[in-house]
Amino acid sequence: MTIGMIHHSITPLGIANVIIDNPSKKNAMSFDMWKQLLDVVGQLSENQAIRVIVIQGYGVEAFCSGADISQFSEVRTESNSARFDELTRLTTQQISQSAKPTIAAIRGYCLGGGLNLALSCDIRISASDAKFSLPPARLGIAYPGYALTNLVNVVGEQAAKYLLFSARRISASNALQIGLVTSVVDVDSFAAEVEGLACDIAVNSPLSIKAAKVGLGLLGGSNDQLDDPKFVGLVEKCYTSEDYKEGTAAFQEKREPNFKGT
Ligand code: COA
Repeated sequence: MTIGMIHHSITPLGIANVIIDNPSKKNAMSFDMWKQLLDVVGQLSENQAIRVIVIQGYGVEAFCSGADISQFSEVRTESNSARFDELTRLTTQQISQSAKPTIAAIRGYCLGGGLNLALSCDIRISASDAKFSLPPARLGIAYPGYALTNLVNVVGEQAAKYLLFSARRISASNALQIGLVTSVVDVDSFAAEVEGLACDIAVNSPLSIKAAKVGLGLLGGSNDQLDDPKFVGLVEKCYTSEDYKEGTAAFQEKREPNFKGT
């Protein structure tokens, strides 16, 4: 069994390419990988030489299939789920609040926490083979409040409900229609297009881009109302539920889940 990791390289133009590398699990993010990503983006954000950060999955099959479900019984239990949610919140916030512009370059599956990760980037560019979904309702977990904010800020409440309630997978062209991605590019020209976009950003004025990013961030939605005890209680209840056990077991046993709402 290979252990997933985050690694990166930097081009002479100051483009940092960050890779989510866990191909045997379709680039799922382990607890350790969330920590690594937090550190890497933190370091790159402080580095004067960096002009733009591009995040992508290893290979062509997946950007990221979400959090590593095989670890849920250890790292996402009733007693420690808050720690898990806090780590993913900090990591995605490190990306969304980075002083550098960020691009999610998406091929293949972009699911759950992986989609949340993409949503924390400034720009999402998708290959035509990309597939998107939000499967928490297939696992019996609640999408965290901060992630709901990211989602609604990008696609609006209607598309957010469609994705979260149905857990349906949507294509790259559907994702473009609902504004989830900024553009869709044929797989053959995808790498060149990502590089071209990163180069265009890298040669532009960093101060101008930073001002635009901070200003647009101030205009965006806030998390304020998500401290509401009713909502917090609903999120916690999922972790103690039979449905959560059933959802994760069904995934691991490769069968349909049978949810009872308890
Ligand atoms: N966590 C842990 N393992 C994962 C994973 C995840 N998020 N996503 C995929 N894997 C593992 C599978 O368990 C499988 O492992 P195995 O080879 O030991 O059986 C391997 O990756 C390949 O996945 P598989 O399901 O066989 O491939 P597929 O092409 O039929 O389907 C996915 C790919 C990504 C659509 C499917 O694996 C899936 O739905 N993953 C879960 C997505 C999810 O619910 N994410 C939300 C987590 S918050």
